[in-house]
Amino acid sequence: MLELNDLCFSINKDGNSVNLVDKVSITLPSNHFMAIVGPSGCGKTTLLRTIAGLNAESAGSIHWDGNNLDEVGDFEPQELGYVPQFSIAYEELTVDEAIESATKLRVKTHSSAELNQRIDNVLEVTGLTALADRFVKVLSGGQKRRLGLAMELVSDPRLLLCDEVTSGLDPRSEREIVRLLHGLSRSDDRVIISVTHSLAHLELYDSILVLHEGRVAYHGPPSQLTHYFSVDDTEEIYPRLSSQESSIWQSSWMKHRGIYYDQIAQASSERAQEAMSANTEQASVASLEDDLDDTGLIEESSSTESDQPRRKPKPKKNQEDTGEKKTLVELPGVFSQFSTLLARRFKIFSRDKGQIILQLAVLLIFPALVTIFAGQADKSPRKLTEVTDGNIQENLALIGDLTAHNGYLGSALAGIVMFQIVLLCLMGSNNSAREVAGERPIWEKEKFGGVSPLAYLGSKVCFMAFLIIIQSLVMAFSVNLAWPFPGESSSSLLTHALLLTMVNSAITFICLGVSSMMKTAEQASLLSIYIVGFQLPLSGAVLALPKWLEHFSQPFIAAYWSWSGSIRSMEDGQKQVIGRVISTDFNSIQMSFIVLSIHILIGIVITYIGMKKHRWEH
Ligand SMILES: Nc1ncnc2c1ncn2[C@@H]1O[C@H](COP(=O)(O)OP(=O)(O)OP(=O)(O)O)[C@@H](O)[C@H]1O
Ligand SMILES: [Mg+2]
Repeated sequence: MLELNDLCFSINKDGNSVNLVDKVSITLPSNHFMAIVGPSGCGKTTLLRTIAGLNAESAGSIHWDGNNLDEVGDFEPQELGYVPQFSIAYEELTVDEAIESATKLRVKTHSSAELNQRIDNVLEVTGLTALADRFVKVLSGGQKRRLGLAMELVSDPRLLLCDEVTSGLDPRSEREIVRLLHGLSRSDDRVIISVTHSLAHLELYDSILVLHEGRVAYHGPPSQLTHYFSVDDTEEIYPRLSSQESSIWQSSWMKHRGIYYDQIAQASSERAQEAMSANTEQASVASLEDDLDDTGLIEESSSTESDQPRRKPKPKKNQEDTGEKKTLVELPGVFSQFSTLLARRFKIFSRDKGQIILQLAVLLIFPALVTIFAGQADKSPRKLTEVTDGNIQENLALIGDLTAHNGYLGSALAGIVMFQIVLLCLMGSNNSAREVAGERPIWEKEKFGGVSPLAYLGSKVCFMAFLIIIQSLVMAFSVNLAWPFPGESSSSLLTHALLLTMVNSAITFICLGVSSMMKTAEQASLLSIYIVGFQLPLSGAVLALPKWLEHFSQPFIAAYWSWSGSIRSMEDGQKQVIGRVISTDFNSIQMSFIVLSIHILIGIVITYIGMKKHRWEH
């Protein structure tokens, strides 16, 4: 049973508190199907979000099965299904895969047979079985809505909130979905609330809530609707509503509601009795099956003649409503969610041809570019031992030549290392700038459904690490293969490669942090480009900076630490050649590793904070 008592949600407008939901009081028994109707902007979505806990109520209370949610805590994620106004799923997955990942993320199953059975049931109940292998991107609007519904049904929610799941559909599809919801409301002590614009098929609902400017104008059986508003047709209700103030509708409703509530209660108890006698008839048939399976599957919804096993009831906090309730499905552990998310990320990546081509192109072209530039430099440093014979004048000329050559070589080498780093920074920002911001609505939905931010973070870190390692090692070793760095031993090559990997990681994770903090993928991309753009000028590698600025900016510039560490790792003679032409102070290699590790850590922490942040826009 769901009970709202004087529920309010207010916002602050020009210093005044305005109630978008104003003292909504309704009681819905179990197995109840309610529609919320009302003109656009009257607060239907806001009310639904307030019930779901996405908006914190500013006054009033919500009772679920007799328990005040303020006292016992919010709904369990598995207990509540919320189908938002705009359906959201990964376009690269098939219907079956989308439902499978939703199930694996929200329900702990004990065998693959149980998992498959659960998926098959949801597909069947929502009429998606024939479309199981179809990609989400090719589904029609109505099919997408059904998928959105299916993804919520995987956890057998006892309270299902649907926002305009029928809008924009043809009358037949609309009727199908309303019938489907009606059927679902008849099982598992479920309560379904469906927001709709449409005033068709109202007879399929147990009650209709008419909302006007956030206030209840009516809540009663559909059959009494026209009578209450003194109109001939339901279509005339909205014009009628605007004929008087919402506060008048509200107070007049308060006066009359008793009689309508009695009708709702009576209809509900009649249904319960019908269901009970139907169950008694089935008991002898069902008793054999009870012991065989306890998967808690969603039942074929359109009638009480279900042939699915019911789950064993478990005592709840307060059982005053119907005596016994279904056992909640168990949420999977963090590691299981992590592996589902990671496998899904790789699958989506493998199907995103554009992304794969871009990654491959960058992987090949960037090192090739570095090699072309590197090939221009004559790489052997010349030594003073060349200056032994000949006269003083010739020797002086030779020393001048030699210094110029080594200076040129030093700056070429330093430039080539920096070029590698800058390109890896670009790859890093390309890896992650859109990663979280681009799929935020899906993540918010999954977080709301009980997916752990730690599992989500872990999956992103592992997927990013995969890209980072390939990109950095290809860059380090392919350039070295084509143009062996003068004076680079195998151990310094390893240090160099590690520092390239770390700078790529630092930028990738900082940009991942940006992505999880920003509202849109465009904002995240823009900020990430700025972050990369500032690496080169502020590194001090190409332009000498004023000392005060250098000291201030250096700790933040990952490129500088990777660059200076890489140069340091090269052989002494080479380093001196470079040292002569580079004005920047070189810190130790260890320092480079420490600072880059701190950058990576900060990026991951920001990402985690951003992922936990509540950012549900719809
Ligand atoms: N967080 C918020 N801050 C300010 N205004 C809000 C907020 N949420 C909703 N509103 C406003 O409250 C009103 C009700 O919005 P809501 O989305 O609930 O309407 P609705 O009945 O669902 O409309 P529709 O049928 O068009 O979907 C609108 O005027 C909307 O702009
Ligand atoms: Mg709405």
